[in-house]
Amino acid sequence: MSYKNFPMVPRVVFGRGSFNQSGEILDPKRLNVNAPFIYLVDDVFKNNTWLLSRIPLAYDDKIIYISAAKEPKTSQVDTLVEEIILKTKDKPSGIIGIGGGSILDLAKAVSIMITNEGEAKDYQGWDLVKNEAVYHVGIPTLAGTGAEVSRTAVLTGPDKKLGINSDFTPFDQVILDSELTKDVPINQWFYTGMDCYIHCIESLNGTFLNAFSESYGNTALGLCKEVFLENKLSEVESQEKLMMASWHGGMSIAYSQVGVAHAMSYGLAYLLGTKHGVGNCIVFNHLEEYYPIGVKLFKEMIKVHNVEIPQNVCANLSDEDFNIMINIALNLEPLWENALGKSWKNIITPKKLKELYQKM
Ligand SMILES: [Fe+2]
Repeated sequence: MSYKNFPMVPRVVFGRGSFNQSGEILDPKRLNVNAPFIYLVDDVFKNNTWLLSRIPLAYDDKIIYISAAKEPKTSQVDTLVEEIILKTKDKPSGIIGIGGGSILDLAKAVSIMITNEGEAKDYQGWDLVKNEAVYHVGIPTLAGTGAEVSRTAVLTGPDKKLGINSDFTPFDQVILDSELTKDVPINQWFYTGMDCYIHCIESLNGTFLNAFSESYGNTALGLCKEVFLENKLSEVESQEKLMMASWHGGMSIAYSQVGVAHAMSYGLAYLLGTKHGVGNCIVFNHLEEYYPIGVKLFKEMIKVHNVEIPQNVCANLSDEDFNIMINIALNLEPLWENALGKSWKNIITPKKLKELYQKM
């Protein structure tokens, strides 16, 4: 038995208003005046001077606005890398992602593809990256995905939705400033927060569970309950706790795996472009059979916050569509093995998956 030797984010700042320290954190990392910092910023912040005025632009530094309306694609990474290489005199000093999970994953992927040949799709999988990425920083403006701590950059490619999982993927620096999450619309807040909650449930109920994952998972689950069920927190406390829940939830799955909801939600994302947070909610809503207690609590949370989970998203799909989703989901073998054990193939069949998708 050989145990995995995982890298972790080596530097992290936590605190309300810590975004103001970006300049002092980045300055020493500037390689030379021709090597700019490239900021990938969610385009919801396009005219937001509260945030933009604090980005410490100097020399040839650039902001590239990115829509997170759709799941990040490998082709999008390739286009961004090409644009950055064409427009910068020298290899960038760093890539800084400011946004939710999509933007953070794009920042990770772009930083890898600047120093690695070929196309992003060639690196979807485990440990395929050869060269160290350029310095990259994650500044989340949404909490829940765990993208700020994870060893993956999840991308939809021409034939699969799969992450670039590598030792070079994790951020070199993360800035956790919960104030940046203050204007998130409630649905988005809930869906993304539920991604974290589902990470906890899938990790804690998985066959890969170990003390490492369990300790992080229990911490994150406790925080999620405080935020989404108990409703006793101030807004600031709630934002700070959800940020730490996301971190711990991400750490929990680092040393285990996610499960049924993620596998099936990847199918929805691949076929329909369903965003990760809401996709997980659509699926998890129908998984009582696999996570009875987790789903019960999830339904209570929906009630407390009066949030709508989309229904009937699979209502008009053809058999071929179902097969595409089923294949994407079944390909994620480690997720199924974590959820159901080594003989998962006896439990989860294409027919069973189709029945489940038809409920969604
Ligand atoms: Fe997730």
